[in-house]
Amino acid sequence: KRPLYGKHLLITAGPTHEPIDPVRYLANRSSGRQGFAIAAAAAAAGAKVTLVAGPVNLATPAGVDRVDVESAEAMSAAVKDALPADCAVMVAAVSDWRPRDYHEEKIKKRGNAPPALMLTENPDILAMVSASSKRPDLLIGFAAETENVVENARKKRKSKGVDWIVANDVSGDVMGGTDNKVHIVRERKVENWEEMSKMDVAWKLIQAIADQLEKVNG
Ligand code: C5P
Repeated sequence: KRPLYGKHLLITAGPTHEPIDPVRYLANRSSGRQGFAIAAAAAAAGAKVTLVAGPVNLATPAGVDRVDVESAEAMSAAVKDALPADCAVMVAAVSDWRPRDYHEEKIKKRGNAPPALMLTENPDILAMVSASSKRPDLLIGFAAETENVVENARKKRKSKGVDWIVANDVSGDVMGGTDNKVHIVRERKVENWEEMSKMDVAWKLIQAIADQLEKVNG
């Protein structure tokens, strides 16, 4: 009944906000719904759950330890602090870039030349966890794709050194919506799940995680 009892699951969810100045930031359309659903299902399955959440407007699921962060750098630090874990599910839509320079004061309109925004790359949290000496037994990444969904997910699984990639086609209105259609890309098999609610994706994924952890360490 509680197949994840005694296991620690680390989950990231939501977007990140990358500050430009005290009032402005770069962001993306992630609602955090899929990650929060997975955290809720994991806690219901008996796991100890650490949910590292970007800025979202969602209630903390019952039984979940939530750490709120804003930027990718803060998310990276919170994830490091939360290790070790038996399984990590990295659902967050981490911003690939952040403004290179943070302006301590609000940038003013002056003259007619708009300011140029220079970007710099953010840390890849998933790749960092994969390379860590505390790498979880089961490491799962997400991939939001708009084309060649499974093919790109296969490449990403290898390049990031993760066990499974949950690939979703975000060409429709998945981001922020209530439903999801995913493909579970493992080393030797790909499962194409029918479209279902994000909560049902979460239950099914948690069941698969419990089965896998049992195979790995009984
Ligand atoms: O490369 P891409 O952003 O498509 O990879 C998506 C996966 O990598 C997701 O699991 C996401 O949470 C994770 N990721 C991360 N840190 C980043 C970028 C992506 O953890 N900076």
